[in-house]
Amino acid sequence: KNKVHNFKVVLLGEGCVGKTSVIIRYVEERFDEKHVSTLQAAFKSKRLNLNGTRVNLSLWDTAGQERFHALGPIYYRDADGAVLLYDVTDEDSFTRVKNWVKELRTMLGHDICMCIVGNKVDLERSRVVAAEDAEQYAKSVGAKHYLTSAKLNKGIQELFSDLTQWMVEK
Ligand code: GTP
Repeated sequence: KNKVHNFKVVLLGEGCVGKTSVIIRYVEERFDEKHVSTLQAAFKSKRLNLNGTRVNLSLWDTAGQERFHALGPIYYRDADGAVLLYDVTDEDSFTRVKNWVKELRTMLGHDICMCIVGNKVDLERSRVVAAEDAEQYAKSVGAKHYLTSAKLNKGIQELFSDLTQWMVEK
């Protein structure tokens, strides 16, 4: 009952979709307009208490730039959860998510809890990826779908608490 669960969560997705921003919003409760490309990967940890269950999340922020793609396995290999992020104003970033899904399913099967996340929903007017399409796709691959804005702090708490709950139950 007093056990602390340790889970590793990896964030994957194209450069500039907001992986660092989502983590910084969640862990440090702030937002930065500047884009600083993550090189290789960065790590943050977050403790939470989910209805009495203590959890320690290790959040791995990976580099989105294509030249770092081959490093992916180092970070997702032993992960319990994956957050596959796309930018709702960028169709290519959604295609990139689909590629990550294929790679993760091939390498890890169904051992990993996958969340597909459309970030930047505050840019509603520039939206090109329809929520229903993303939702349906996620369902078809056994993933859950969320919409977030790191800028406006929308959907981020819910994303990580749902994912944590899922990992606890698994
Ligand atoms: P790489 O490290 O290159 O892979 O990028 P990343 O995916 O970590 O993206 P990052 O968090 O650095 O964000 C990229 C840019 O998008 C920055 O200028 C952020 O301020 C901006 N951004 C992130 N999240 C949001 C959001 O929810 N809404 C808006 N409007 N901009 C955002």
